[in-house]
Amino acid sequence: MDIFYAPRDALAQTMADRLSPDPIMGTPAGLFLAAPRRTGKSSFLRGDLMPHLRDRGLYPIYVDLWADPQADPGELIANVLAQELDALGDRRTRLLGALPFKTLTVAGFRIDLKQADGARSATLADALAEIGKRAAADVVFIVDEAQHALSSPTGMHAMFALKAARDAMNQTPDSTRLYLVFTGSHRDKLAGLTLTSKAPFFGAQVADFPRLDRSYVDALVDHINPKLADDNKLDRDDVEAAFKLLGYRPEKLTQVIRDHALGTAGSAGLRQTIRDRADALRALVWQQHESDFGRLTDVQRAVLRVLIDRGSDFAPFTPVTYAAVKRMTDHDVGQSQIQNALDDLRDKSLIWRPSRGVYALEDQDLREWLLAHIS
Ligand SMILES: Nc1ncnc2c1ncn2[C@@H]1O[C@H](COP(=O)(O)OP(=O)(O)O)[C@@H](O)[C@H]1O
Ligand SMILES: [Mg+2]
Repeated sequence: MDIFYAPRDALAQTMADRLSPDPIMGTPAGLFLAAPRRTGKSSFLRGDLMPHLRDRGLYPIYVDLWADPQADPGELIANVLAQELDALGDRRTRLLGALPFKTLTVAGFRIDLKQADGARSATLADALAEIGKRAAADVVFIVDEAQHALSSPTGMHAMFALKAARDAMNQTPDSTRLYLVFTGSHRDKLAGLTLTSKAPFFGAQVADFPRLDRSYVDALVDHINPKLADDNKLDRDDVEAAFKLLGYRPEKLTQVIRDHALGTAGSAGLRQTIRDRADALRALVWQQHESDFGRLTDVQRAVLRVLIDRGSDFAPFTPVTYAAVKRMTDHDVGQSQIQNALDDLRDKSLIWRPSRGVYALEDQDLREWLLAHIS
């Protein structure tokens, strides 16, 4: 079966245009783009942007800081760079000699390099400059789910090192350039890299990552309609309306089309669902919460419940919270248990903390869902 994918060439082009030293047209500080989960960010970066950058003669490197939730963001970055150095060191040995390093050290993580015979350890900046030199191309370093760098000191360390590498390469006249692209599923968290004067990319702007649009809907309809009977074709406006209700998530849309248009009621069934049962479509988005929520402990559920009940008055480390959690779980809890629960809930992206001591739910849908699901 062919796997449907709607290419996003125009967006790849626009984004690549912004990777330019031009202070007006380009964004030399780096691109920061945010959009909710499952809306097509990673697919675009890997399937559209990277090939397009290669066509333009740039050298893209991709790292997903969510690839392995157990791994430290600094370590993930170190691994990706070591792989690149090994690959390029291998390819260019005769032209440029072996790599002048023995190991690579990023944020305290040291990795042995295979294709090297130097004596010293490369820093992140050394590694990126060497990659640019060997690839003979400007490097674009793409950090997906970059907000996870905020979750560990080594992650932040790696971000500061990236900034230093960018400045070093871009200020050295004969060096290839370094461009940075950061994406994330949480706009406010991503802004943690740019908002305060202590943040590594202070002053950069976080923009919305463009959601899939009508051309995606058209491509999907063009893909499916030939397989449907003449009297059961999908209507583009219906599909677009459903896509919107589903928060622009392709997987949900595919599921709805499978359940409705391909079911006994046919495409008319889809229209009827959009008109009369929009709530049912929204409920599909909730299934995501259902699977996240299912893995929570009693204490985590109770902390969430207290947070919802108390809203902006929620104070985690108070007798009121301890008592409420004890009532719901029969466990005696103190500061460390509550702190652990909050940390886990943050890791699962159920809650976020915009500033010290203030916690809030990740999104409004979640509130409705939780009230309907926890007694
Ligand atoms: N252009 C596209 N055409 C078809 N399906 C897409 C497209 N972009 C994303 N998808 C699908 O949407 C889902 C979520 O995409 P993903 O890139 O993982 O989102 P994110 O990185 O924002 O969480 C995946 O199943 C993916 O195949
Ligand atoms: Mg992704």
